[in-house]
Amino acid sequence: TIAKDALRAQPKAELHVHIEGTLEPEMVFELAEKNGIVLDYPDAGTLRQAYNFQDLQSFLNIYYQGVKVLIEADDFFELTYNYLRHAHEDGVVHTEIFFDPQSHTDRGISLAAVFEGINRALAKGQKEFGITSRLIPCFLRHLSAEAAMETLHALLPYRDFFCAVGLDSSEKGNPPSKFSEVFDKARAEGLLTVAHAGEEGPASYIWEALDLLHVARIDHGVGCESDDELCRRLAAEQMPLTVCPLSNIKLAVFDDIKGHNLKRLLDRGLCMTVSSDDPAYFGGYLLDNFIAVQTGLDLTWDEVTELARNSIRASFLSESEKLEWL
Ligand code: ADE
Ligand code: ZN
Repeated sequence: TIAKDALRAQPKAELHVHIEGTLEPEMVFELAEKNGIVLDYPDAGTLRQAYNFQDLQSFLNIYYQGVKVLIEADDFFELTYNYLRHAHEDGVVHTEIFFDPQSHTDRGISLAAVFEGINRALAKGQKEFGITSRLIPCFLRHLSAEAAMETLHALLPYRDFFCAVGLDSSEKGNPPSKFSEVFDKARAEGLLTVAHAGEEGPASYIWEALDLLHVARIDHGVGCESDDELCRRLAAEQMPLTVCPLSNIKLAVFDDIKGHNLKRLLDRGLCMTVSSDDPAYFGGYLLDNFIAVQTGLDLTWDEVTELARNSIRASFLSESEKLEWL
């Protein structure tokens, strides 16, 4: 096995992390107490024991409960700063952070508070750790296309603070095609696009993300394996997949790490990257995910460095910024 320190020392970009998914149980309780919110669990240990998921939806039900303790800009600051500290310790040099605006605005929290808190942490993280960041607000696909369009309009005054939009939440039954108009509008505004596709959903959702949403990356995308033509296209276009191994195990996309298709897809020439998704819920930050796939799939040093370098290449940094890490 490859030493943890060697994996840590590889410059890595984290391209798939939901900031609300970095909310550790201890912080849930700390913020609940501060904000006068009553929780369904007596303490952080008990809450953590409830992190036993059957599938994506059973996770999302708990994740949206946790989000409710985030009220003030300072809460978003603390959450984001805490994540950046973890990321820095794992050798992450750049991060592209998802957040779910509708999970906050639907509770009466202003986008101003969300952006203010997160941006303050990103600035501090850059100053203190040298870590660069981009933000990617995601539309909740279990809600309507109209709600997503309203959210896009509400986001536009903050256009300078994010580089792309994404699509997340309950995948099955909510195909990318549902959001083609919203994504057309986002691209017309000069935004890049990404989408969760092929996490639990079928390969056809990946085709739709490519052809209808014109995404620059596919989030997860592991469902491509059943479709040879799709795999050939993803490889030919070097379309990055942001794969989250520990997430996939916790949400039962694969039975165990040995059955994960990351290496098989890498062997087929796809542009694979590794991310942590919702590290507070899935049992590990980015370095833990690298260790899990390196040991579980017997990855060589060359394969591990390819994953790390792919993350830099697939990032939304400028070409000159990428060169610093490649
Ligand atoms: N929101 C937070 N984590 C998610 C995931 N893994 N899939 C879809 N939506 C999410
Ligand atoms: Zn995700």
